[in-house]
Amino acid sequence: MPKQRAKLVVGNWKMHGRLAENAALLEAVAQGAAELPESVRVGVCVPFPYLAQAQALLAGSRVAWGAQDVSEHTQGAYTGEVAAAMIVDFGSSLVVVGHSERRTYHHEGAELVAVKTQRALEAGLTPIVCVGETLEQREAGEMHQVVGEQIDAVLAKLSAQEAVRIVVAYEPIWAIGTGKSATSQQAQEVHAFLRERLVAKGAQDVPLLYGGSVKPENAEELFREPDIDGGLVGGASLKYKDFLAICEAAGAVSVTQ
Ligand code: 13P
Repeated sequence: MPKQRAKLVVGNWKMHGRLAENAALLEAVAQGAAELPESVRVGVCVPFPYLAQAQALLAGSRVAWGAQDVSEHTQGAYTGEVAAAMIVDFGSSLVVVGHSERRTYHHEGAELVAVKTQRALEAGLTPIVCVGETLEQREAGEMHQVVGEQIDAVLAKLSAQEAVRIVVAYEPIWAIGTGKSATSQQAQEVHAFLRERLVAKGAQDVPLLYGGSVKPENAEELFREPDIDGGLVGGASLKYKDFLAICEAAGAVSVTQ
């Protein structure tokens, strides 16, 4: 019987949270994560001001933490930017790079996303590189071209040794925050395509997460797919019961079948 890959579930809080509510959420997630099988890894990516709080409440737990963006620069006169080393200063191990909300609202292009990925790796962070197509691009049959270009731009800048240290998240833009997840078949199809690109780079074991309306009801079905190694969870990561239920779904399919 084949053994499923270990799973990784990461919450992306986006621009949500306040100190008091975060504390309750982080404590509940840390407690719940302690009960998960070893084959599931859990993380949360919080707004920059809450990195210290995440560190204080998650240190020593099973839950990793990190940020949602990183500067392309290492330091200097870049008002408002946050360097990778600053994120590391708070014990972080993760950072989301190239989320579609940054590509869309902050005009981040493929080249910039690739440089940010490098900065994260240099600082010792695990970059979660997001790729995904719009509904128009999918309907025009351009989805492989779009996600292929997005992943290639990043892989082209990395050595094979660097490439094995990233995580990739496929997040179809039409599925983000809409309640309308990709079907497990739709997601698996793109994941298999992305896996080929990673294999060509010698990075076949890079975790491939799916993101876009992951919830307790659809998580297990998604995570059963052979190339879906976990999830990048937005809205549902703000409710500890939902987030832990998604982590449990990952646990249910990450043991020997
Ligand atoms: P939702 O889970 O809210 O659809 O968000 C997905 C996402 O963008 C995670 O990065």
